Amino acid sequence: MEQSSEKAMVSRRGLLKSVAAGGGALAAGSLGVHAMGNMENLPPNVADWSKILGEGVDARPYGTPSEHEKDVVRRHVRWLTASTESSINFTPLHDLEGIITPNGLCFERHHAGAAEVNPHDYRLMINGLVDKPLIFTLEDIKRFPRTNRIFFLECSANSGMEWRGAQLNGCQFTQGMIHCVEYTGVPLKLILEEAGLKPNAKWLMPEGGDAAGMNRSLPIHKALDDCLVAFKMNGEALRPEHGYPVRLVVPGWEGSMWVKWLRRIEVGDMPWHTREESSKYTDLMENGKSRRFTWVMDCKSVITNPSPQSPITHGKGHTVLSGLAWSGHGTIDRVDITLDGGKNWRTARIDGPSLPKALHRFYYDFEWDGSPLLMQSRAIDSSGYVQPTKNELRAVRGINSTYHNNGIQTWHVMKNGEIENVEIS
Ligand code: MTE
Ligand code: CO
Repeated sequence: MEQSSEKAMVSRRGLLKSVAAGGGALAAGSLGVHAMGNMENLPPNVADWSKILGEGVDARPYGTPSEHEKDVVRRHVRWLTASTESSINFTPLHDLEGIITPNGLCFERHHAGAAEVNPHDYRLMINGLVDKPLIFTLEDIKRFPRTNRIFFLECSANSGMEWRGAQLNGCQFTQGMIHCVEYTGVPLKLILEEAGLKPNAKWLMPEGGDAAGMNRSLPIHKALDDCLVAFKMNGEALRPEHGYPVRLVVPGWEGSMWVKWLRRIEVGDMPWHTREESSKYTDLMENGKSRRFTWVMDCKSVITNPSPQSPITHGKGHTVLSGLAWSGHGTIDRVDITLDGGKNWRTARIDGPSLPKALHRFYYDFEWDGSPLLMQSRAIDSSGYVQPTKNELRAVRGINSTYHNNGIQTWHVMKNGEIENVEIS
């Protein structure tokens, strides 16, 4: 079920107009009765669904969302990539709450499509500078002591289309290369200890079992710190598109390090300078040089709601602003909100768990007087780092890079409640 971004935008706009036309009836404080609803179902009548038996258990052995939520899906942008096999789609952040991303809505990034691995034929090989090269089955991996940890995964290309100016009209498209799930897995350290590291072991090269054989050089200190060899996400087996049956989890570091369908880990004494860390996943600067091995995802935030795909439909009055903040360096200390393009800042309320290298949810409730707004969020992490404006970032990095754009996002709220992606110069 493919849906183009453009179509989704059009239907949202259409919806907005019909609600607006339906009228002033939708004042703040109303019960949110929708103009297009069926009056027969509204109080004091007995609603249709209250008059009949519902579906029995097992009608859906694997549960699916309500049909009314069918637009809450991952979406890709057709013109961004030449094929869907080497492509990316985006998490619908504007439709989600809390800090956990449901498995079916986690964005996908494949270099050669999603490999379909038979778990019985799955093997993980450790070779190179180890005392004994080993091959593990899935069952072997599941016999190590395991741990459960919640982490965000952000592709370093997230917001990569926005370096030269505001481009894509939707939080899903500007910020949706991120998800945050609870992983169950084995600390990579334990697996490496089983093989025994030679004294000169300094780097690892995890390699994927997909046709791309995706590989990156991973310094040993990170591998021994908090990396996981994961086989579950949010309690169930990894989905095929996220690396079933086993993926590497590299907390706080760019998504390309999180090798999916993990088939091999080579241990060496130097980095390999693979394609994905020389030609790609390096940051081209103005002077023609590139930053490389920029692994950590810096502190960033975004207002997920209201946002272009989720306009203000209730008119003036009490408005709930919801958003996400995260940092690869630790937790989020504070999130500031401005509604007037940076003249006045207020502190948002962080709600829910505050875990290192995981998404944080923030809220800011305000009274909208119906005038245009320039909304921004600015996060500060536990290292004291303050999320920069896009222009501050450009002053240091230029505009040639695709990766690591963590600049402040601006949403322009118009009088009619519609919202667009803009920049303040
Ligand atoms: N691993 C393999 N084997 N093949 C890939 O194409 N893509 C990487 C990484 N691991 C990739 C991979 C990139 S660039 C990102 S951002 C993440 O996987 C995306 O993970 P997800 O698809 O689970 O969201
Ligand atoms: Co990526």
